[in-house]
Amino acid sequence: MEAKRMAVIGAGQMGHGIAQVFAQGGYRVSLMDKYPEALEKAKSRISEGLARLVQKGRVTEEEARSCAGRVSYTGDMNEALQGIDVMVEAVPELPELKKEVFRDADKAAPAGAVLASNTSNIRISDMAEQTSRPERVVGMHFFNPAPVMKLVEVIPNPRTEPSVVEYAADVCRKLGKTPVKVLKDSPGFIVNRINAADMLFFSLVVDAGVATPAEVDAYAKGQGMPMGPFELLDFVGIDVAHDSLQYFSKAISPEYGKAKSIARLYGEKRLGKKTGGGFYEWVEGRARIEQAAPTDKVTLMDVFAIEINEAVKLIEEGVALPGDIDTAVTLGMNRPFGPISVARSFTSSEIASRLNELSARFGCAVFAPAASIAGGKLREAIEDRKAEPKAEPKAEPAAQAKAGPVAVERLGGGVARIVLDRPRRNTINAEALDALDRAITELWDDRETAVVLVGGRGDTFSAGAELSQFFSNSVDFMEFSRKGQRVFRRLSELPKLTVAVMKGYALGGGLELAMSCDLRLCADETQIGLPEVTLGLVPGWSGTQRAVKLLGAARASELILAGRRMTAARAYEIGLVHAVFPPRDIEEAAVGYAKELASTVAPVSVMLAKRLINKAAEGGSDAGLEMEAASLGVLYGTEDLKEGIAAFLGKRAPRFRGR
Ligand SMILES: NC(=O)c1ccc[n+]([C@@H]2O[C@H](COP(=O)([O-])OP(=O)(O)OC[C@H]3O[C@@H](n4cnc5c(N)ncnc54)[C@H](O)[C@@H]3O)[C@@H](O)[C@H]2O)c1
Repeated sequence: MEAKRMAVIGAGQMGHGIAQVFAQGGYRVSLMDKYPEALEKAKSRISEGLARLVQKGRVTEEEARSCAGRVSYTGDMNEALQGIDVMVEAVPELPELKKEVFRDADKAAPAGAVLASNTSNIRISDMAEQTSRPERVVGMHFFNPAPVMKLVEVIPNPRTEPSVVEYAADVCRKLGKTPVKVLKDSPGFIVNRINAADMLFFSLVVDAGVATPAEVDAYAKGQGMPMGPFELLDFVGIDVAHDSLQYFSKAISPEYGKAKSIARLYGEKRLGKKTGGGFYEWVEGRARIEQAAPTDKVTLMDVFAIEINEAVKLIEEGVALPGDIDTAVTLGMNRPFGPISVARSFTSSEIASRLNELSARFGCAVFAPAASIAGGKLREAIEDRKAEPKAEPKAEPAAQAKAGPVAVERLGGGVARIVLDRPRRNTINAEALDALDRAITELWDDRETAVVLVGGRGDTFSAGAELSQFFSNSVDFMEFSRKGQRVFRRLSELPKLTVAVMKGYALGGGLELAMSCDLRLCADETQIGLPEVTLGLVPGWSGTQRAVKLLGAARASELILAGRRMTAARAYEIGLVHAVFPPRDIEEAAVGYAKELASTVAPVSVMLAKRLINKAAEGGSDAGLEMEAASLGVLYGTEDLKEGIAAFLGKRAPRFRGR
């Protein structure tokens, strides 16, 4: 059944945002609040939100008007729930209040409607049990601000029908959100469970006099974080942190009740930004943070260990799968990487000893290592696996089901195609490099194939290396460069004619991939470039060496040193690409071109001629590659790299300091 009508109960910070998201998704939505002034405020917030979108050119005025017209406002629950398909409750985080809302909603909503809660922490079963339809009750946990944040955690209660979970996830996808299915109804679900341990830790650091909030925040900012943890606590609200920790202290362990600084501020009604003071004083919307030297008593490693520990507990308890935890943390906490990706760089004993030290130092069992970590089985615990069939009864739609990050397709007529198929504009990570390497091996001795097209799924080639991967030290970072170099060199040596099909973005590692092919076809409007120097990096997958060989030092400098994007026309002019096509024609043109080549060139001649060309282009290249990788090793430790990546992820201009 296709959802058409929605209701949101509670028109506050979250409720108005969720209603706006529904309206933008084309649904009719009634927004209900007990207080008329809350409805008034929600109405103006929604129209301000839509006006901002118009200003940014994201929607037209006409679209904004019709979007606003899809929201109706009411103070009456019966009216709000008439004829709806889905309700999302977003009243304050008070268990008794939420239960009452669910009792009323159950009476007022059509029998088939799905009743969802946007609770941050409370078990969904608490609400479901109040209704006559627990099988149609789920959690749909949006993040703040709802119109911006992509993540929605979808949570079943033990009696939820699997098809209802799928239905809710589907609604999220239609809203352009990324649903992460939580497998078990557990307090705080994924993101807030991990976040609660962080909050507890930072409070204990201050409680024990280990460091001041300003010292901790100075350290965090030095690590490239846009906001320190205490500034963030004030920003989100001390009451929100306090309520969560109190709930956890009852629902999971009394140890969560040990955060004294947070409890004290809460008792003093110093709730952070909203009351003008919390850990800091807030003036004109900004925290007044005194100058402080970054602490050396708290390290990122402490936070990593705590988050990895919580992630492993979630896996052990069957709350979530490793891959989903990373998706939820990156999207929900605005992080460049999640705890699972970080955990891959450490051993069980490294994490266990750090956790043992923290739990002893702060006398807090929340930090004691999870069973798998204590038992030396961290690696096994975080291994990615699929959900149990019973937890995932319905197959994902075909578009979601992916064979892997790189596909090999046989197109007939002596042509094969290697297709990069990755999220975020086909960005390339270590897994994609491995898959590309396998694809090269698969085609190496394939006598049926003479020409190999190399392209990207969808409307883009590749926007480059994934910048959200975690590397624990400069050696790993350097090895990641060498790995890319190795795979791209194998591609350049593949005894077939290789043709890159560039479209959308061919940036950084994406352009290095294209440059590792023999020929390059390009769609008009493709954004081409090696922007590494604007991020505090250098091209690391042989781009520095290949660009010079292909274009000469002067033109390579235009690409590498200026770091600017280049048009397809300019790339054609300097000989970087061999032909330019309109975007809608490129795929067909490329296949036609490849088939024609496959029928006209002699495979063995191509194989040998290619080796000769490669030979001719050689000269000091190994030393250059070694230096390229070593440069990345050096850059790993620079502040400019952290700043470059933080600015990129935060969508702001970097402030490089030359160190
Ligand atoms: N604010 C966040 O960052 C955030 C993020 C994710 C989830 N949440 C969760 O979303 C829920 C709402 O949080 P919020 O920040 O929007 O709170 P809020 O205080 O801004 O809004 C709550 C609204 O509910 C209304 N309300 C109170 N009782 C009601 C009733 N009986 N019937 C109808 N309306 C009623 C209030 O008038 C208010 O407008 C909470 O469960 C919270 O934990 C909050």
